[in-house]
Amino acid sequence: MSKSAVITPFGASTIGSVKVPGSKSHTNRALLCAALAQGTSRLSGVLFADDTEAMLDAIRTLGAEVEENRRELTLEITGLGGSPRLDKSTIDCRSSGTTSRFILPVLASGHGAATLDGSEQLRSRPFAEQIAALRSLGCTLQETQMPGELPIEIQADGLAGGEIEVTTDTSSQFVSGLLMAAPLCDKGLTLRLLGTPVSRPYIDMTIEVMRKFGVDVKKLDDSTYVVPPSRYRATVLGVEPDATAASYFFGAAVITQGKVRVDGLDKRSIQGDIQFVSVLDELGAKVTWGDGYIEVEGDHISGGSFDLQDFSDTAQTLAAVAAFADSDLEISGIGFIRAKETDRLAAMTAELTKCGVEITEKPDGLLIRPNKWLLRGATINTYDDHRMAMSMSLLGLRVPRIEILDPDCVNKTFPEFFDCLEGLRPRAQERSDIAAVIAIDGPAGSGKSTVARQLAAELGLPHFDTGAMYRAVAVAALRAGVDIEDADAITKLAKETNIEIQERIVIDGVDATEEIRTPEANQMVSVVAANPQVRRVLVPQQREWATDLGGGVMEGRDIGTEVFPDALFKVFLTADLSIRAERRFNESSEQTMGSVLDDLKRRDQVDSTREDSPLLVAPGAVIFDSSGLSIEDVVSDLATIFRGLVAG
Ligand code: DC
Repeated sequence: MSKSAVITPFGASTIGSVKVPGSKSHTNRALLCAALAQGTSRLSGVLFADDTEAMLDAIRTLGAEVEENRRELTLEITGLGGSPRLDKSTIDCRSSGTTSRFILPVLASGHGAATLDGSEQLRSRPFAEQIAALRSLGCTLQETQMPGELPIEIQADGLAGGEIEVTTDTSSQFVSGLLMAAPLCDKGLTLRLLGTPVSRPYIDMTIEVMRKFGVDVKKLDDSTYVVPPSRYRATVLGVEPDATAASYFFGAAVITQGKVRVDGLDKRSIQGDIQFVSVLDELGAKVTWGDGYIEVEGDHISGGSFDLQDFSDTAQTLAAVAAFADSDLEISGIGFIRAKETDRLAAMTAELTKCGVEITEKPDGLLIRPNKWLLRGATINTYDDHRMAMSMSLLGLRVPRIEILDPDCVNKTFPEFFDCLEGLRPRAQERSDIAAVIAIDGPAGSGKSTVARQLAAELGLPHFDTGAMYRAVAVAALRAGVDIEDADAITKLAKETNIEIQERIVIDGVDATEEIRTPEANQMVSVVAANPQVRRVLVPQQREWATDLGGGVMEGRDIGTEVFPDALFKVFLTADLSIRAERRFNESSEQTMGSVLDDLKRRDQVDSTREDSPLLVAPGAVIFDSSGLSIEDVVSDLATIFRGLVAG
């Protein structure tokens, strides 16, 4: 087991397409129905992962014959043609909730004895509702350790069937399992659901797969299903790509503000998790529902309130996406996901908090109050939950130093997840529309200047300090005694002053390297920079500057948003306010800590709220909190990301 994986951010928006593996839910339903069917079924697009291996082992133990072609992702399964004969075997469902909840009623419908068991994690997940339903049908079940939990011994002598009630607010898997065993009951089965079922689309998927294998389920009303005694017949079935797995890549499109297409899914999908795409649409992403594909293009996204009861497996993806939204996002209707692989609400709250996200855990959901400026890397616990690993990895696409512990837990449903994510890494040479510029924006004191200078040296590229240009105009105004509020006079100065920015800053022939950093210049410069006419003069000069030299590292406040929105690599450098103040305090002997802090707050406010070119995190920019890191660490991380972008 590998101990951890550190995600290297993309550094730019991703554009690409992904082939996601077959749906776990679809595969495991098809495997079981094929195992119970008369004849040989052919399945394609099958998922091979821990959860489906558990089901494959289980159906083999029950006597189904399986021929695999793992390269082609196909299976031929010759079924039992009815309920199983049990020979006291133990069926190990590993950590697979679907395998265990689907197999238990099938065992109950058989003849003989068997034991159902699983991993420690599965042993702690609930089974009580299904056990109660099967007991009410006359089956003898014995939990050998804790009531309502695995391991369970089954003494089966067929099921007469009839009518049962099932509580459905913990897991829809209980209903799906009972439905799949229902045609094996002598008199068939009528299922009455108590309460509003969670994840209802999964029940619909079960019915659809059963229908494909020749068994009809009648839905009398929203809570009553009738299954007559019948036989499954072998069939040919193509498993759909996994819509939950696809959610991570749609999330990647939105988070990096790029564009991702997933083939093999469209509006006709039988997977409820496809609804995640509609949520992204509501958040402001551009969604194309194609014929045989879905494409999501990210833009700035807003927040909103979303009930995910029907597609809760995408809640963690949505929470990760929400960290990059422009306003609050609330997810509700998912209290029951506390009983999944882990308490997913508690886990997501703990891990996002570590990354600087303000998140509140509610009884039935999550409230996320995003602020991109505060995002930071962290070591992420994954709680043996594949969805924790996959969703939290998405933060790493824009935030350096997201370290995922026990990344192999993705093997449960998506062994190639990290390779697929890596496949979306943008490559400079595939784009003709980008400028060879590394854009570094960020607030005062974030370490921008030092980082930009050292990164330029490390990569052998020119360095451009655009802040020095605005400072030079402020100094020219100070020298000439021009009123800072006189916008026209300042603009005239910006046009006429000769500014040279190289090793030294020279203004109209006079060295001003120190002069541009005096407290007086500091005071004036944000007003100068907030003057739109001054920007109209200086921004074209900045573009020309970089273009003439064939690109380089350019730092400022609007490089990724205004000056070079098509920059090859964009960075938003930030740090805690207190740390930024300390850095500034150490640089200047003339100010007290209190006045440095006040000055920084004021400048953050002016820079980020001014009407013209406010300081914003540029689309797709890496958000790098340098608090607690050395300059060398920051430079080395950025150089690595850059090299990833330009690698062949
Ligand atoms: O990065 P600095 O502190 O030297 O920047 C000086 C001022 O200029 C600061 O108030 C932000 C502003 N500035 C800007 O508006 N746009 C830029 N591209 C660079 C700096």
